[in-house]
Amino acid sequence: MTRRVTKAIFPVAGMGTRFLPATKSVPKEIMTLVDRPLIQYAIDEARAAGIEDFIFVTSKGKSALEDYFDTSPELEATLERKGKDDLLGALRATNMESGAISYMRQNEALGLGHAVWCARKLLGDEPFAVILPDDVIAADTPCLEQMVDAHEGTGGSMVAAMEVPEAATSSYGILDLAEGDPDARARKVRGMVEKPAPGTAPSRLAVIGRYILTPAVMRHLDEKKAGAGGEIQLTDAIAREIDGPEGVHSFRFEGQRFDCGSKAGFLQATVAFGLQRPDLRDELRGFLHDVIAMEEAAE
Ligand code: G1P
Repeated sequence: MTRRVTKAIFPVAGMGTRFLPATKSVPKEIMTLVDRPLIQYAIDEARAAGIEDFIFVTSKGKSALEDYFDTSPELEATLERKGKDDLLGALRATNMESGAISYMRQNEALGLGHAVWCARKLLGDEPFAVILPDDVIAADTPCLEQMVDAHEGTGGSMVAAMEVPEAATSSYGILDLAEGDPDARARKVRGMVEKPAPGTAPSRLAVIGRYILTPAVMRHLDEKKAGAGGEIQLTDAIAREIDGPEGVHSFRFEGQRFDCGSKAGFLQATVAFGLQRPDLRDELRGFLHDVIAMEEAAE
């Protein structure tokens, strides 16, 4: 029987240089989409999927991220006294149970595989999830929950996947699928390569930042072999499980993914999430409509 997935690793050690100067003093994961920091979207998705232990792999300069997860009794008391129930609810929804979060420091920036490996001592002999908070996925059923459900049937390791334009394949882990039902959401993988050089990708199917991995993947990371870009790549460690007993599956999730590691993706996510909010929708729609009309008139 496949073991339940209850632990998730959140690699958050990156310096966020693409968002300088904002990230000079604010960790990227604290930047807000509408009114919630990026990391809150990742945490909420993990909770919905049944995750109970949250492991953050951090680095220097991330103390604001740790502070964010503290409870705020004074703020709660003030809101309570003023009868601001909506805000109180929003605040309390972010409270984490004591002991649910662990922080592990990545002392050297040696790649995503190395970041995940830093959490090895906090895991048992069971499958675990990895969530990259830069990839924000809007979906009716949160992406990791979809994967946990599918994983009960497949076992082994599983990576979220979606098609990207040919020109973007060199920015991702790219999958080569084994033969099988083209419409199935979970498909067996027969090859995967990290950031293939332009023109060499085996497909346009890219790995997106949601993983369910077996302890065997962690053992491969122990070898600390450098791959693409001289970094220790998670993709390479997962690929070694393709011929393992349970193999690797790709999972084509239902939902829309935003690359919040890029400015364009972050802005798109802000607009998309703003439009989903009943309190903002009409005003934002009207504004976008007017801005576009003005832009077109000026052309
Ligand atoms: C990482 C992974 C890559 C994956 C991507 C998804 O790359 O190494 O395999 O496709 O996340 O967002 P990064 O974006 O950190 O360069």
